[in-house]
Amino acid sequence: MKTALITGASSGIGKETAYVFAKNNYDLVLVARRKDVLENIKTDIESRFKVKVTIIITDLSVLNSSNEVYQLIKEKNIVVDVLINNAGFGVSGNFAESDIEKVTEMLLLNMITLTRLTKLFLKDMLNLNSGNIINIASTASFQPVPYMACYGATKAYVLNFTEAIAYELRKTKVKVIAICPGATESEFSKVAGVENALMFKSVPSSKELGQFIFDSMNSSKYSKIHGLKNRILKNLGLFTPRRLELAVTASIVK
Ligand SMILES: NC(=O)c1ccc[n+]([C@@H]2O[C@H](COP(=O)([O-])OP(=O)(O)OC[C@H]3O[C@@H](n4cnc5c(N)ncnc54)[C@H](OP(=O)(O)O)[C@@H]3O)[C@@H](O)[C@H]2O)c1
Repeated sequence: MKTALITGASSGIGKETAYVFAKNNYDLVLVARRKDVLENIKTDIESRFKVKVTIIITDLSVLNSSNEVYQLIKEKNIVVDVLINNAGFGVSGNFAESDIEKVTEMLLLNMITLTRLTKLFLKDMLNLNSGNIINIASTASFQPVPYMACYGATKAYVLNFTEAIAYELRKTKVKVIAICPGATESEFSKVAGVENALMFKSVPSSKELGQFIFDSMNSSKYSKIHGLKNRILKNLGLFTPRRLELAVTASIVK
């Protein structure tokens, strides 16, 4: 039986990804802050599938949380076959008026913890010469994002970091991939304060993303973009002057 560790599994994409992996006979380690929510998900998954679910309640925006998660897993003698760095959130508005503490929390969660968890579990995967690491980037990774400047930059980091190490690891049996969802139905838009933004009109479900993540895990690509529209927009961006791209991006975020 293989085990998948999913951060940010209490809602949205992480939660739905957990159901897809459970359906495919993976034991799960689910990480998030909301205890009651994760307990309910554990009970539901274990009642529907023949898998074991371990939950870890922690705030992953705390610097040392990655080491604590890793230690807990070692103590339980769990071998993580698939690491899914999914936990993340966005902050919107003018950078000049932003709450720098909230922004710092986001930088720590979206980039630092993702990097540290990757480093910790990669060492074990390389020893076994087997494993998958899936980092959730975004279509926000491809260009600067006015009014979500720091969020967009964190996702550019996730994409570039992930593709670079995927290349470094190409001759091993450890597969690393960045997944880039476009706007998706989840709690993300509410948390980021962009529920009314144009980009959140008519979006795919987190369930669809969960399946996409599972199906993409062993792709030979270093990154995959979800959805035809998002792939077309990314390619159009390659031929668009940067200032125009900034203006278009700003108009769909606000
Ligand atoms: N939805 C979109 O439009 C979209 C588009 C592109 C990329 N993404 C990316 O997809 C990933 C998943 O987002 P989502 O759309 O599923 O949003 P979501 O529904 O808000 O889920 C975010 C998850 O992250 C967890 N989380 C947030 N802060 C945390 C912290 N400090 N410590 C531990 N866990 C934390 C939340 O759990 P708790 O609150 O219980 O801690 C929740 O389970 C994110 O990386 C996001 O950037 C989303």
